[in-house]
Amino acid sequence: MSTTTPNPPSNPLPWNPHQYLLFQTERNRPIHDLLSYLRLSAHPSFSPTRVADLGCGPGNSTKLLTQYFPSAKEVVGIDSSGDMLSSASKVIPELESGPEDKREVRFSLGDVRTWTAPEGKKPDIILANAVLHWLRHKDRIPTVVRLVRNVVADGGVVAIQMPDNYYEWTHRAMREVAVMKGVPWEGCFPRVGYSEGESYTEERPDLDPIESMEEWYQALNKGHVLGNVQMLVNGFA
Ligand SMILES: C[S@@+](CC[C@H](N)C(=O)[O-])C[C@H]1O[C@@H](n2cnc3c(N)ncnc32)[C@H](O)[C@@H]1O
Repeated sequence: MSTTTPNPPSNPLPWNPHQYLLFQTERNRPIHDLLSYLRLSAHPSFSPTRVADLGCGPGNSTKLLTQYFPSAKEVVGIDSSGDMLSSASKVIPELESGPEDKREVRFSLGDVRTWTAPEGKKPDIILANAVLHWLRHKDRIPTVVRLVRNVVADGGVVAIQMPDNYYEWTHRAMREVAVMKGVPWEGCFPRVGYSEGESYTEERPDLDPIESMEEWYQALNKGHVLGNVQMLVNGFA
């Protein structure tokens, strides 16, 4: 694993790979959705050799990326959490054994807001699954525009997915139960309870509202940013 110095992380929360992977099956579902959609919609001649997984976490999304696109010979995973990267480095041997020649796999510290590929090595696929909602609102669209304009290879694909479920009934119910009074768990969850409508919380970038489809359309389509690059947005779950 290479350890280039990252910019200050965009989110202050520590990440626990063990805890994260306890729910790997559930967490992987949107990745399957996005990658299946990408594989089905890609031109039959699309055969990516370089792929990048930005916000790769413990490598679960990187692993699926190589399974869906076994032609990938150079695989890069970037994350701002050293703990997540340490966990990701454990899957390197599995990822390196490509179907034919050996694959080159690298996990590095980096920031999705500023990462670029080395000269002449633009990725054919950039995957950013469940990471962009960790950027502040002001950074989110500019980051994607930069990836599309400057970072992905010509004719490549930028595939993104971000959850937007904080105000879904399931999540509301969890918060309501967590802060109940007169129950055995009373006081166990003191940090629950950012209330609805609270739009800016210093330590929770993921609660900044996700931009509407129209905003994305204006930024990407009307500005003719896309050019020869495909953009896959896996509806906001
Ligand atoms: C919810 S996990 C997603 C992991 C994996 N991509 C997946 O789909 O399951 C979010 C990851 O994004 C990383 N992250 C958050 N902000 C980042 C940034 N600005 N640059 C790079 N990684 C970032 C976190 O460290 C964390 O590992």
